[in-house]
Amino acid sequence: MTRKILVTSALPYANGAIHLGHLVEYIQTDIWVRFQKMRGHQCWYVCADDTHGTPIMLRAEQEGISPEALIERVHGEHTRDFAGFHIGFDDYYTTHSAETRACANEIYARLRAAGLIEARTIEQYYDPLKRMFLPDRFIKGECPKCGAADQYGDNCESCGAAYTADELKNPYSAVSGARPELRQSEHFFFRLSDPRCQAFLRRWTQAEGRLQNEAANKLQEWLGGGDENRLTDWDISRDAPYFGFEIPDAPGKYFYVWLDAPIGYMGAFRHLCDRLGLDFDEYWRPDSRTELYHFIGKDILYFHALFWPAELEHAGYRTPTKVFAHGFLTVDGAKMSKSRGTFITAASYLERGLDPEWLRYYYAAKLGSSMEDIDLNLDDFIARVNSDLVGKFVNIASRSAGFIVRKFAGRLCTCDESLPAIEAIRERRRLIADHYEAREFSKAIREIMALTDLANQYVDSVKPWELARQADRESELQAACSNAINLFRLFAILLKPVLPALAAKTEAFLNVAPLVWADAATVLAAGHVINDYRHMLTRVEKQQIDALLAANRESLAATPPAAPQKHAEHQEKAAVVAAAQAAVASSTGPHISIDDFLRADLRVARISAAEQVEGADKLLRLLLDLGPLGTRQVFAGIKAAYDPATLVGRLTVMVANLAPRKMKFGLSEGMILAASDPAGETPGIFLLALDDGAQPGMRVR
Ligand code: 2FM
Ligand code: ZN
Repeated sequence: MTRKILVTSALPYANGAIHLGHLVEYIQTDIWVRFQKMRGHQCWYVCADDTHGTPIMLRAEQEGISPEALIERVHGEHTRDFAGFHIGFDDYYTTHSAETRACANEIYARLRAAGLIEARTIEQYYDPLKRMFLPDRFIKGECPKCGAADQYGDNCESCGAAYTADELKNPYSAVSGARPELRQSEHFFFRLSDPRCQAFLRRWTQAEGRLQNEAANKLQEWLGGGDENRLTDWDISRDAPYFGFEIPDAPGKYFYVWLDAPIGYMGAFRHLCDRLGLDFDEYWRPDSRTELYHFIGKDILYFHALFWPAELEHAGYRTPTKVFAHGFLTVDGAKMSKSRGTFITAASYLERGLDPEWLRYYYAAKLGSSMEDIDLNLDDFIARVNSDLVGKFVNIASRSAGFIVRKFAGRLCTCDESLPAIEAIRERRRLIADHYEAREFSKAIREIMALTDLANQYVDSVKPWELARQADRESELQAACSNAINLFRLFAILLKPVLPALAAKTEAFLNVAPLVWADAATVLAAGHVINDYRHMLTRVEKQQIDALLAANRESLAATPPAAPQKHAEHQEKAAVVAAAQAAVASSTGPHISIDDFLRADLRVARISAAEQVEGADKLLRLLLDLGPLGTRQVFAGIKAAYDPATLVGRLTVMVANLAPRKMKFGLSEGMILAASDPAGETPGIFLLALDDGAQPGMRVR
């Protein structure tokens, strides 16, 4: 029976780069979707950029562009990165769309009609300089428990205490530095505390197979048992200024980003339906017979297993069939880190020429159906890709294809279907399919690799390279190589959900139509002619990984810290940093005191030496003469703009009291100042110069 399936991955925020942590989810989902399509099911995979909210609004402001321009640019970057990793979305859209707005308005109107929306006046911190209400993450102050300075409005990073923003001592706005005022404002709440919602969610979350066991247990904890009412109402509105959808009939009030984000799944699917003439309602009406799956990270389970199904149910739509949560990515056993260079962006991986299928394979080999974290161990990555993909899989073709092409004009003879390896594949392919279906990809890979061992044992036993040296054994050679090519084809089918590009190359080489799962039951007919074999996959070299880490370490030194991270919390933190920078940068923006400014010790410096840094793409090593203050070494990200020889002797300005920073190439003891266009429209980096008469070591103020 053909199933009709709609699949989503979580929508990435439109203000940061895609990194290897994100890719766990997109690769996991993509493998599952490709498997379903290969099985002949109608399976649609949609996603979109998550474009609304305060961090995106402030980020655009920091860059001096409109939020619309920011999200458009990022959409281009995300689309490029996903395509680079062969993520085969049927539609990659944006939440800032007419479709999502219409769905959000509709859901809101229906919830209101059901009596589940309530207006309530709340008190919230307001930034009088910036003229905006501040989310908790944008308020800082002293921890009410331990007194640590500069803590965020929700918890203390020093002692770990959790509190609310109004408990902070000496609070200040992280956007402008102003002292915030408590002000009243009317907000709209989704009444999750309503007995209808509670009863529904208790039922829904505990339904057999709906959530992973760990997730269902977590939900039970959150929901409590019996008649207990543990859920509080959810604040779904934000006041202007806000980048989002204005709530109908409520001027100046906007939907909170988390209200319209999952509705973006519907918006993206609506867009796909309009393009392809599909029936949207067939997938979303309450009695729909189609399946709906959301792949998400475990950090956003709350939104997908509570708020979202409650919204859908009470607005008269179908609810998700299942929600699949995965764990986080660690690299070499630790959180991804910018200073170690393990915060690796998708773009940097691709730019350095690493093969996306290496990573797809490695993730597949690690992924299961649980919410456990997965580790990208870089040595293991190299070893596994080289031994499994190159050594075991591709090797089968590379040891046999040449003979068929050169000696037999590409013509295959009958495949011996009684070979143990072929029989084993026949026997195991159902189990492998079950593993894919259950998202137990690591088990599928283990099975497939055990089968490649059998295939290689066969090739080792017939030794085509020796047969080829004996003129009277041509037919044996053709038989051996035909069997090997057939084995290779079968593995290409079993691995196609994971390695779609390699499968496409295989299809071209084998001269066959796109392979589907059912093809694993057949072999190529005698007389079938294959094409020239070209090398399919290269080995990973350790130097490539070292260079990748260096590139990601280096970009930190060379670019401002606009930390794009996945989790809303981190994301808001990054925006806080960005906003603080914007506050300093913008002439019309909030002010800093003269004392604040004077804390930076700016000095005239003469560049006494400048040279390339081996292995660094962006950096030059400079020696700066500060006169009476001595000499400093600085690594500056200006290689693209300056020939080191032209720099020697010139005067410029440096920050002399920046904490020294240990870099891969040595200690950087400060920073030189240069201008560049934050919007990136005028390319270039422009060093500051001084009028005649200035001397090294002079203070700049
Ligand atoms: O956590 C995040 O990155 C969110 N942008 C995910 C949104 S998923 C869905 F609900 F839209
Ligand atoms: Zn504290």
